[in-house]
Amino acid sequence: MNATLSSQRILVRSAVAVVSAVSACAALAAPAAAAVPDVPGPAGYATSAVVGGLSGGPLDCAQLKCVALTFDDGPGEHTDELLDTLAGYDAQATFYVLGSKVAGNTGTLQRMVEEGHEIGNHSWDHADLATLSAGAVEKDMERTNEAIREATGTEPVTMRPPYGSLDDTARSAIDQPMVLWDVDTLDWQSRDADAVTDVTLDETAPGSVVLYHDIHESTVEAVPEVLKGLHRQGYHFVTVDELFADTMKPGDLYTDARL
Ligand code: NI
Repeated sequence: MNATLSSQRILVRSAVAVVSAVSACAALAAPAAAAVPDVPGPAGYATSAVVGGLSGGPLDCAQLKCVALTFDDGPGEHTDELLDTLAGYDAQATFYVLGSKVAGNTGTLQRMVEEGHEIGNHSWDHADLATLSAGAVEKDMERTNEAIREATGTEPVTMRPPYGSLDDTARSAIDQPMVLWDVDTLDWQSRDADAVTDVTLDETAPGSVVLYHDIHESTVEAVPEVLKGLHRQGYHFVTVDELFADTMKPGDLYTDARL
């Protein structure tokens, strides 16, 4: 769509990332039935609860290798399977959900919160916020935050703009930290679990924010290998909020917490 993205737009990393995200979110076709997970989570996948248990504090991502896995555009029909997988590995993740998908999926959202995941605002219905007035952006954000709050009792801390697209008007209307990504798995494009795993394992660095879409079955199928591979590299799986350790400010833009 945005062959001629205007210069005042804040582009994420590269035009490729933005165009990718556009296509990703345009394709919401339902894939085939979810596969049954067959890999039980091994013990020893440290979480904030485990590592921070003695001190009562969160993981110190300045000292440990942390990564935030993020899943956009859901919840979808494969999201509960993904939650099963994450639970099996004691891994935390962040879900940038659409407000329009909250109704009918409140159980899934409540489960996310109960199991220690973070829910972020990904707009009501995936509008390109750079095309909206400040008032429309404000309304979109509040409507989505409210749907999440009503469903879960928790307020989203962060938001992610659809397509990674923002302009100064949209930014001025958003009073949450805005979170993009530094690793784009291109999962919507490859629809290939092995490719998704390879990109993740090749490109993740300590402090990375990795972009996935849990509406794709192939992405959910990749997650066991992603978790095993990154764990082997010494990573801990934290939420975006934990990754940035409360340093984020409302209205500021973040791609990662790489050191
Ligand atoms: Ni999206």
